[in-house]
Amino acid sequence: MNKIKNICCIGAGYVGGPTMAVMAKNCKDIVFNVVDANKERIDSWNHKNLSKLPIFEPGLEEIIRNTRNINLFFSTNINECISKADMIFISVNTPTKKTGLGAGKASDLKWVEACARQVASHSKNHTIVVEKSTLPVRTAEVIKKILNAANIKNENNLSFDVLSNPEFLAEGTAINDLENPDRVLIGGENEKAINSLIEIYKNWVPEKKIICTNIWSSELAKLTSNAFLAQRISSINSIGALCEATGADVREVARAIGTDSRIGSKFLDAGPGFGGSCFKKDILNLVYLAEYYGLNEVANFWEGVVKLNNWHQHRISQLVSRKLFGTVSGKKICILGFSFKANTNDTRESAAISICKDLIEEGSHLQIHDPKVKESQIEKDLGVKSLKNLTKTKNNSIYDTKGNWLKADNVYQACQGVDAIVVLTEWIEYSKINWKSIAKEVRFPTWVFDARSILNSNEVLGAGLNLWKIGYGFNNDNS
Ligand code: UDX
Ligand code: UDX
Repeated sequence: MNKIKNICCIGAGYVGGPTMAVMAKNCKDIVFNVVDANKERIDSWNHKNLSKLPIFEPGLEEIIRNTRNINLFFSTNINECISKADMIFISVNTPTKKTGLGAGKASDLKWVEACARQVASHSKNHTIVVEKSTLPVRTAEVIKKILNAANIKNENNLSFDVLSNPEFLAEGTAINDLENPDRVLIGGENEKAINSLIEIYKNWVPEKKIICTNIWSSELAKLTSNAFLAQRISSINSIGALCEATGADVREVARAIGTDSRIGSKFLDAGPGFGGSCFKKDILNLVYLAEYYGLNEVANFWEGVVKLNNWHQHRISQLVSRKLFGTVSGKKICILGFSFKANTNDTRESAAISICKDLIEEGSHLQIHDPKVKESQIEKDLGVKSLKNLTKTKNNSIYDTKGNWLKADNVYQACQGVDAIVVLTEWIEYSKINWKSIAKEVRFPTWVFDARSILNSNEVLGAGLNLWKIGYGFNNDNS
C-alpha cells in the first residue's frame, strides 16, 4: 500500500468543499486540491472574507481559516491538479436527466463521464479514483471502462483503481456529520486501494465505523439510505394530512410512533415536504433502476414517496388559499424561509419553490425572507424576476393582479401589510419572533401557517393572529 500524499477533488460544491476541508483538517501530511470548472465558485472559496464562501455551513469558516493555503487549496487548474494526485475524488453534480432515455428519472452522468475522461488523459502512474457523488448503481463501471481505455492507449505506466465512497453528510450539519460519521462506507475490489482510503479515515474515524463492501452494494446502499429516509418523511406527512382532517396532532402521533425503539424518533418531523439535492433524485434513480429490470411494483412503490411529497407541497399552497376566503389573488403573503432546511443556503428542490410558484400563479404578492439565500437565487428558482427588477409597464405602474414577489431584508419588513405568513424553513430566528410587534404590521384577519412546528402557539394566538399548524387538526380551527 502506497501512502497517499496528494489528493485532488473534482467539484467544489456542497459535498466536495466541506468533505475536503474536514479531511485536510485531520490529515495534515496530505495536500488537498479542490478543483472546479466554475471560476466564480473557486474565487469565492479563495475569498479573503470568509463570510463570502460559496456555501454556508455551521463550523465551515473556522476549518477553512485553519487549512486554506496550508494543506487545502482551491483552484481551476483541473488538469495540473489531476496529474499531481495519487487519489482523485469525483464530487460533481449528477442532475436528473431532462431529455432523452430515462428523462425525469435517470441521472445525467455527463459530468462524471467528462471527469473520468479528464482523469484518464492527465493522471500519471497509479491513481485511485473515488466516486463521492451519489450515483446510480453501476456508474463505477462507466468510470472504469473510460480509465481502462486510456490505459490501453497510454504508455505512461498508467493504472487505476475505482472505489465508491458515498457521502452521508446532511447539509446544515455537514461538519459534524463528517467529523463524527455514523459510518464510512467504502466499496471496491482492490484491497490495497481500499486500505489506502481506510488509512486516511483512520486519522479521525474509529476503525469499527468503517464498513467495506463491494462496489455495487456501496452504490446501492447510498441510494437506498436516502430512499428510506425520504420514505419516513412522506409517511409522516401523509399522516399529518389525516390528522388535520380528523383532529389529531401529528406531533403527538410521531412521538408515540418514535418511542418504539424499532422505529426510532428521528426523521419523523412533519414539514412542508422534503427538499434538497438528493432525496428526489435518488428515489427517481431507484425507480428507473427497478423499471429497467421490469420490477414495476417496486418502481411504483418508491415513486409513491416522491408523488406524495409533490402532492403535499401543493396541498400547503391550497390550504393557504382556502383559509384566505378561497383566493390569494392580489393579496400579500409573507414567506419565511426559502432554503430546503435550516442552516444552509441551498435551495435545491426546496418545498418553498413549488409553494411560492403556486401562490404567484394564483396572483399573490409574496414578501420572501431568508437569512442566507440570495435574491438572485430565488429569482432563478422561481423563474420570475423580483418586483424590484421588473421593468415597469407603460403607465409606469406594476401590474397589480399578476402574481409577483420581493425579497425582504428582515422579518418585520416581510410581514408588512400581509394577509398570511407562511413559515417554511425552521430557521431558529423564526421561533423567536415577537408576534405582538408583527401584529402591528399585518392586515387582519391574518393567518399564520407553521409548516415546521416551531412557533409558540400561545404567542401567535395571543397577538390576535390565526394559527394553522401543518398536521395539527387538534388545535386548529377546522372551520
Ligand atoms: C453532490 C453530489 O455530487 C451529488 O451527486 C449528490 O447527489 C448531491 O451532492 P453537490 O456537491 O451538492 O453535489 O453539488 P454542487 O454543489 O452542484 O457541486 C458540484 C460542483 O462540481 C459544481 O461546483 C460544478 O461547477 C462542479 N463541476 C461540475 C465541475 O467542476 N466539473 C464538471 O464537469 C461538472
Ligand atoms: C440527505 C441525507 O440525510 C444525507 O445522509 C445524504 O447524504 C444527503 O441527503 P440533506 O438532503 O442534506 O441530506 O438533508 P436532510 O437533513 O436529510 O433533509 C432532507 C429534507 O427532509 C429537508 O427538506 C428536511 O427539511 C426534510 N425533513 C427532514 C423533514 O421534513 N422531516 C424530518 O424529520 C427530517
